[in-house]
Amino acid sequence: MSTPPILDIKALTKTFGGAGGHTALDDVYLTVPTGSTVGLVGESGSGKSTLLRCIVRLERPDSGAVMFDGRDVHRLRGADLRAFRREVQLIPQDPYASLNPRMTVADIVSEGLVVHRLARSRPQRRDRVAQALTEVGLDPGAMDRRPATFSGGQRQRIAIARALVLEPRLLVCDEPVSALDVSVQAQVVNLLADLHESRGVTILFIAHDLAIVQQLCARVAVLRAGVVVEEGATSQVFATPRHRYTRELLEAVPVPDPLRARTDRAVPGGALTLP
Ligand SMILES: Nc1ncnc2c1ncn2[C@@H]1O[C@H](COP(=O)(O)OP(=O)(O)O)[C@@H](O)[C@H]1O
Ligand SMILES: [Mg+2]
Repeated sequence: MSTPPILDIKALTKTFGGAGGHTALDDVYLTVPTGSTVGLVGESGSGKSTLLRCIVRLERPDSGAVMFDGRDVHRLRGADLRAFRREVQLIPQDPYASLNPRMTVADIVSEGLVVHRLARSRPQRRDRVAQALTEVGLDPGAMDRRPATFSGGQRQRIAIARALVLEPRLLVCDEPVSALDVSVQAQVVNLLADLHESRGVTILFIAHDLAIVQQLCARVAVLRAGVVVEEGATSQVFATPRHRYTRELLEAVPVPDPLRARTDRAVPGGALTLP
C-alpha cells in the first residue's frame, strides 16, 4: 500500500469581492505526495499565493477542501488545529517584512516553541534555537542580534530556522528567494534542497523562476488564471509540455536541459528568470 499524500487539494474555489467578483482559484485539484517536492508556477496574479494562503488557513475557500493527512484543514479544531499549525510552516516571500525588527533572532526563532510549549525553560529554548541556526548555516552566536543587522539571504535563513524548530512535516514556500539578490538565491534554494534530503520534509514551492523548480522540485503544477492546466513530473512537463500555456512559459525562459533536472544544480535567476 502506498503512503497517502500529505496534502490533497480538492475542487478548491476562492472568489474575491463577493458575487460577480474575481475568481482567484477555480476548481483546483493538487496532490502533494508525502516526502516530495512540488513546484507551483504561473504568472503573477494566477492565484499561487491565494492557494498557499488557503492551505495555511490565512484564507477561507468558498468551496472544496484542503486535506492534510487525510483531514480537512478548514474543519480542524482544538488539539488537531494546534498540531496542524506546528506541522505546516510557511516560508514567506519577503524576509524584510516577515521578521519583527524589534525582536532578537533568539526571540523570533523560539516564539513557536513557546506557543506550542515545546521547550519549557529558556536554556532549553536557546539550545533549540542554536541548533536550528546552525542547521540553516548561521552562527548561533548571533542569536541576540536583531534582523536589521542581517542581509536578505541571512534573514531568509532566520525565517527557515523559525519554521524548522517546530519540526514541520510540510514547508510551503511563497517565492522565498525572489526578494533576494540573484547571487544568494541559489544558496537558499540549496539549503531547502539539503533540508528536504536530511529531514525528509515535504516542500510545496511557489516560484516564478523555472530553473529553480527544475533544480528543487520533483513535480510541478502549472497554474493559469486560477486553473491548474498541467501537472506532473518536472522532467516530463518541462521536456514535453502538453498545455500551450506551459509551452509559452518555457519558451519565455528556455530551461537548458530538462533531462538533467535535479541532478544539475543550475544557478537560478539571470537569463532564466521570467519577466
Ligand atoms: N485579498 C484580496 N482581495 C482581492 N483580490 C485578491 C486578494 N488576494 C488576491 N487577490 C486577487 O486574486 C488573484 C490572484 O492573486 P495571487 O494569489 O496573489 O496571485 P499570485 O500569487 O499568483 O501572483 C489576483 O487577481 C489578485 O488581484
Ligand atoms: Mg504571489
